[in-house]
Amino acid sequence: MMAVARLLLSAAVAVVVLGAAPPRAVAAPDGRALYAKYCQLCHGAALEGYAADNAPSLSSPTFRASASTPFLQIAIERGRAGTAMAGFGKSVGGPLEPAEVDALVDFVRGGRAAPPVLPPKASKGDVARGGRLYATHCESCHGTATQRGNAVHLANPMFLASASDAYLRVAVVEGRPGTPMEAWQGKLSTGEIEDVVAYVRSLARPVPAAPVAPPTPAPTIPVVLNPQGAPPAFTLRLGRYASVAEVAAAWAEKRRMVIIDARPTSDYLRMHITGAISVPYFDMRGLDEVPNDGTWVIAYCVCPHEESGRILEELRTRGYPNTAILDEGFFVWATQGHPVEAADGQMPIAAPPAKPAAFTPAPLASPRR
Ligand code: HEC
Ligand code: HEC
Repeated sequence: MMAVARLLLSAAVAVVVLGAAPPRAVAAPDGRALYAKYCQLCHGAALEGYAADNAPSLSSPTFRASASTPFLQIAIERGRAGTAMAGFGKSVGGPLEPAEVDALVDFVRGGRAAPPVLPPKASKGDVARGGRLYATHCESCHGTATQRGNAVHLANPMFLASASDAYLRVAVVEGRPGTPMEAWQGKLSTGEIEDVVAYVRSLARPVPAAPVAPPTPAPTIPVVLNPQGAPPAFTLRLGRYASVAEVAAAWAEKRRMVIIDARPTSDYLRMHITGAISVPYFDMRGLDEVPNDGTWVIAYCVCPHEESGRILEELRTRGYPNTAILDEGFFVWATQGHPVEAADGQMPIAAPPAKPAAFTPAPLASPRR
């Protein structure tokens, strides 16, 4: 009797002790693995940028020295609406948990300590003068208020909501070594740099509402568009690419096909081709629903080809006979006025130039040397 009681007692103690113990260590998310899965295709194996889509470098020393933790978190979680940079946070459709975003922030830093948030120090420069300087010196790369150039779109409302004047100033003064962004110190006067910062700030617009994460289970939309329609006849460039003109004609003529949005879910929720299904490049389970019966399958992204290319390779590996990539990508489709479905209050797209200039980054010197 005593023994049993003692046993019960020790079991109770054990429970209490376990309850008070720190929760079993959950493995911290692996930033490197997350980066390889979700980011590397655009930002490059060594964070050097320009692997696709003119995605900027995440490793230049001046970027690392001024990009604070909130700046990086916002960029990764919310993305830059209207550009190739999707939001990856759970709150906008996923897939990343906050701890995973933080692991990516650490990985982007390459083990360095977070720089302090710069005091914002608003520019008192002259917007009109800055606008003239911008048109002369910056627009050829950074584009206009509504059109992205080959470099980061500075007019993006989400960029400007997270980048202070101090952040802009440092980038202009010091440039981004290893990239086409030169240091403007000495080329523009201090006053002119203030003017150009004031002008860039004047481009800020309200941040569009976050796309709402889908209810679970997500509403199902038919996988095959126009199941009764005749098959389209595409002539593929390089055996891979169907033009926007051809696919838009097939859409208008109600041809039977499957259109796959290969971008992260937040991009799909924000705006997609009407009738497209969402199969993000990093989670292809949705392909199991796509009939393998000769129906044409068109994948798209904005890149124009990186994310959709992964879907195409997977479909071809699985033996789908009629597959293609939307050649010019989603932005060209949308800006030409072809049918899209958009969440409320979404901003128009800052279309990139049809042929972004290729750019090979110079290797950066190792910071340890
Ligand atoms: C489809 C290509 C693509 C993918 C995938 C992608 N990015 Fe980006 N990213 C971009 C582009 C393009 C920009 C610049 C936005 C613009 O066009 O103005 C950007 C901007 C950024 C910025 C802000 C940099 C700056 O200088 O302002 C960060 C940080 C970033 N990306 C991190 C990530 C991380 C982390 C991932 C993976 C979770 C990721 N990106 C996935 C294309 C991509
Ligand atoms: C030759 C092309 C080119 C010109 C001209 C140019 N830039 Fe840039 N700029 C870039 C590129 C490319 C980047 C991104 C660098 C990277 O990959 O980190 C950049 C980055 C920046 C950034 C940082 C953006 C961010 O997301 O961190 C700012 C701010 C900026 N430029 C402002 C300017 C201003 C203002 C001018 C004119 C005085 C200018 N740039 C002229 C190519 C250019």
